[in-house]
Amino acid sequence: MFLFRRSAVSRKARIRDGTRVTLRQVRGTDVAALRAFVQSLSAESRYLRFHGIVTDLSEAQWKYLVSADGLDHVAVVAWIGRRIVGVGRYIRLEHAHDTAEVSFVVADSLQRRGLGSLLRDELVALALRSGIRSFRAEVMAANQGMRRLLRASSMNVVKDMGDTIEVSLDQADSRPEPLVA
Ligand SMILES: CC(C)(COP(=O)(O)OP(=O)(O)OC[C@H]1O[C@@H](n2cnc3c(N)ncnc32)[C@H](O)[C@@H]1OP(=O)(O)O)[C@@H](O)C(=O)NCCC(=O)NCCS
Repeated sequence: MFLFRRSAVSRKARIRDGTRVTLRQVRGTDVAALRAFVQSLSAESRYLRFHGIVTDLSEAQWKYLVSADGLDHVAVVAWIGRRIVGVGRYIRLEHAHDTAEVSFVVADSLQRRGLGSLLRDELVALALRSGIRSFRAEVMAANQGMRRLLRASSMNVVKDMGDTIEVSLDQADSRPEPLVA
């Protein structure tokens, strides 16, 4: 059964152009790297991720973003060397425990090379292990990248309400081993 599959702390993977990345769950010590990553994003990517004009976050917000508990709040970070190049995150909804709000952001120079898909597959594996059966995302109508990311074969769109998409997670047993925190 999936719950008893072997888990890994981190994993090396290659994106489509052969670039190697390391994937692991976020840690409390990642604030500086995360801040550098967010600040390196184009204004457009920051806007699409945070749904507004964001130049910096408060200390409390940075702390929150790295204080994922690995169960109700999970963030998988992709690294090249000491640089974060992508983050996939979900936060379980308080009023619907089998559903989580999901978000992704990938460094501009690496977009459309499969990193978002790698992060998505890691999140799906972790979510299913924690009893989460669907992801919900706030997605701007024009955000084709995020829309495509959520229309993967491992997910079925159950609701598309324009700016909110909900997808159910496929139970098929062909996912990566979950990355432990
Ligand atoms: C959305 C985002 C995370 C996707 O990451 P990515 O690494 O580019 O995604 P992938 O390369 O794995 O591509 C996933 C799918 O989306 C498609 N796609 C990616 N960007 C696209 C774009 N701009 N327009 C159309 N399709 C796009 C890919 O072709 C691929 O489709 P396929 O699975 O049918 O082959 C990335 O574009 C990003 O960081 N955007 C800015 C932040 C954002 O919009 N976040 C979402 C809101 S939380």
